[in-house]
Order: sequence, then C-alpha cells, then structure tokens
Amino acid sequence: MNSLIDKYNIPGPRYTSYPTVPYWDESTFSPEGWKESVIRSFHETNAAEGISIYIHLPFCEALCTFCACHKRITKQHSVEIPYLESVLKEWKLYLELFNERPKLKELHLGGGTPTFFSPENLRTLLEGIFSTVDIAEHPEFSFEGHPNNTTKEHLQTLYDLGFRRVSFGVQDYDPKVQKAINRIQPFENVKNVTEWAKEIGYRGISHDLVFGLPHQNWEAMEHTIRKTMELKPDRLAFYSYAHVPWVKGVGQRGFDENDLPSGEEKRRLYEDGKKLLQDLGYIEVGMDHFSLEHDDLYQSLMHKKLHRNFMGYTSSNTQLMVGLGMSAISDSWYAFAQNVKTVEDYQKMVEEGEIPVVKGHVLNTEDLIVRRHILNLMCQLETTFTSNTSFPELQNALEMLEEMENDGLVEINGHEIKITEAGRAFTRNVAMVFDLRMMRNKPETRIFSMTI
Ligand SMILES: C[S@@+](CC[C@H](N)C(=O)[O-])C[C@H]1O[C@@H](n2cnc3c(N)ncnc32)[C@H](O)[C@@H]1O
Ligand code: SF4
Repeated sequence: MNSLIDKYNIPGPRYTSYPTVPYWDESTFSPEGWKESVIRSFHETNAAEGISIYIHLPFCEALCTFCACHKRITKQHSVEIPYLESVLKEWKLYLELFNERPKLKELHLGGGTPTFFSPENLRTLLEGIFSTVDIAEHPEFSFEGHPNNTTKEHLQTLYDLGFRRVSFGVQDYDPKVQKAINRIQPFENVKNVTEWAKEIGYRGISHDLVFGLPHQNWEAMEHTIRKTMELKPDRLAFYSYAHVPWVKGVGQRGFDENDLPSGEEKRRLYEDGKKLLQDLGYIEVGMDHFSLEHDDLYQSLMHKKLHRNFMGYTSSNTQLMVGLGMSAISDSWYAFAQNVKTVEDYQKMVEEGEIPVVKGHVLNTEDLIVRRHILNLMCQLETTFTSNTSFPELQNALEMLEEMENDGLVEINGHEIKITEAGRAFTRNVAMVFDLRMMRNKPETRIFSMTI
C-alpha cells in the first residue's frame, strides 16, 4: 500500500465541483446568464425534487490560525441583525426570478460560525425564509456548530425549526495542537453539545477531525480518535489539513512550517487514522467521510443516492442550490456562481438590489458530460461512457488509466470503469484523468508521479 501511496500521492482537486474553481472560465459568466440558468433549473426541478439553500454565516469570535474558510473575526454581535437582513434581501432577489413558491428540500447553515448568531436571530432568519417556501417531504436541514459557543437553546431552536443534522468542529484534542491553532476547546464542551444534540433528537451528528495539524503526531491523533469514540458521532469528516499561508491572519499563526508533520508523518496520520476508524466500526464513504452503518450517509452510498456539492457529500440531491451570504457559492447545474467575498461589498450590492455574484462559470455540453462522470466516480465509484456521454479524449483518458488498472485500483470493462476497494483512496487520481479543463490548461499534470 505504501508504495502505491508514494506513487499516487500528488495534490489533486477534491471535486466539490466540475470544473473546479481554478478552472472556471470567467469569460463564460455574467450575472444575467447566471439568472437565466437559475430560472431554467428552477422550472425543470422545483415541482419534482425541490431546491437547496446554503446560507453562509461568516462571523467567528476568534481566529483559529489553521482555518481556510471564508470568515470575519469579530466580537461585536451588533453585526448579526444587519447581516441577516441582507441575507433575507438577497433571498428576495432570487424569489423575484421564480414564478411559483420554491419547494425547500435541503438547507444548510455554514460558516464561519452559524452559532455565533443568537438562537432568536437565527429563528428570525429562518422564519423569514420559511414564510416564502413550501417545505418538501423529508427535508434535510443541517448546520455547523462550534462546540465552544453552541448552546442547548441553539440546538432546541433549530430542531424545532426542522433541523436534524449538526456537525461540530473538533479538529484535535491535544493541548499543544490546540494552542498552536489558537483553538482551546476542552473535551467537556464537545461532550456537552453532542449529548444535548442526541437528547434533543438529532440523528446525523458529525464531528470534523483534521490530520496534519501543527505538532500533531500519532499519539495526539490516536488520542483524538479514541476520545471521539467516547461520544460515538453518527459520522465523521477526517480532513487533510490544507495549508493555505496566503489566507488572512497568517501573521497571528502560533506555528510555522517546521511545526507541521512531514509528508511521511502526515501520511501515517491518515493511514493509521483511517484504519483505527474502520476498526472502531466506521465505514469510509466517498472521500474523507466516515459513517456508522445506520447513518443516512452510508445508506445513500449503498443505494447509490450519494451526492457531492460544495458542502461535501450529501444524502439528498437537488439540481438547484442557491447560496446566500458573503462568498457563498451557488450551483444551478448549468452554471456556478460565487458571491462577493467581503461583508461590506456583499451588503452594499444587496442593498442596491443586485444579486451579489461576482464570478462563476457557465458549463458547456462537454463540461456537463464530464461533470456527470466525475460525480459518478466520486459518489458511486463507477461510471459508464455511452455514445451520448463520451468526448474525443476518452480513448486517451482510458489509456492513462491502464497503469492504475495494473496496480489494481480500477477495473475497466470496455467503457465501464469501476474503482476497486484498493482504489478508493485514489478516487481523486481517477477523476483527474477525466478533468479535461485541467488537462488542457496544464497538460503536464500527472495522475501519478512519473519520476520513479
Ligand atoms: C466552518 S468550520 C466549522 C464550524 C465552526 N466554525 C467551527 O470551527 O467549529 C468547517 C470545518 O472546516 C475544517 N477546516 C477549516 N480549515 C481547514 C483547513 N485549513 N484544512 C482542513 N480542514 C479545515 C475544520 O474541520 C472545520 O471544522
Ligand atoms: S475553524 Fe471555525 S471558528 Fe475557527 S476560524 Fe474557521 S470558521 Fe471560524
């Protein structure tokens, strides 16, 4: 296994979209084109499957110095109401595009820190949205909670509004690691919020763990996983630390590059961490997610219903996802759009009556075909090319896969590709073969290391 990791361990996209954000072609995008694609997607799918809304709530009270999310650090809670008013105004701009009441299937509050906002303010926001939509049968409402500021009242209020899933940011329990990332978070806090959530009736409780953090060694990782097991969340995200030194706040970092585990050590954290999670009963679902057998995430994998979007893996799937709030990304299936990235610009554009999208990509026919195959691979671990879903470079791509076939990572039967059990960890490498936008922009891209 280790030699395969050596061979295929290259940086690759996580494919929460295709094309991936660095390969969006801005020249295809305009706010008018974006609105047209939303209207088209809404007409096609609202009545049957409904739509999803993602709301980005960017504020955090303190900066965790490892964080790569779009956030704004402040202790001033007076920012809450004006921001939420802007979100409701932005939603109103979308409502003007629709000719019937939206049917809301999926709603996610992400951040930043949604639990920075008071329960009453979150209630006002959500009631504002709910008064304009019909709620679909079996809705999927979820939010991200910070264990240091999620209260029982947050959990109860959101539960009463229909939320059933919550994910808590844990990262690591080791004091030295916590100090380095400026996130002192006692186990007791995570225990309390997890137990409250269980008592109240949440069923998809998730913890985010990160490997590759500064000062993290196997001892710290094992300790974190074993503590996590005391609380038995239904699912887990096991993220690879993305080192993004260009993100704002780097000056405040409590660590430098030398404190990070080496490539070899980080790989061990991943490999041994994954093995321990599996020994403890968690099943790997797609990439970097694990779930217990009863959880919907695993069930949707088994029933081939797993989907992937900017929020990661989800167990429901709508064609249209409207992203509200600063930096939020929306997806109409035919196009992607990202909102402006500062709170001030966001509020200004919304006040002026503009949907605050500033960049994006309109997918052409080829993009749509490739997108479907990459989603199939990321979620179902297999895909089939028919005459309608092929593209000129297919033969080339299949030839690139031959080496992976020889290594037992994929099975190729004519135009059908299956990722094997051994190949799961290399799903991204398989997807990269079909990433035509990346291959054309960077023809030197390797799906495995050619140097050995
Ligand atoms: C928006 S935060 C979760 C909610 C809340 N703000 C908190 O921290 O508890 C989303 C998650 O992204 C992950 N994350 C943030 N920065 C990361 C990075 N540089 N590399 C890997 N994962 C990261 C963390 O696991 C974090 O819990
Ligand atoms: S990890 Fe969470 S709380 Fe920390 S800065 Fe990032 S979004 Fe904010």
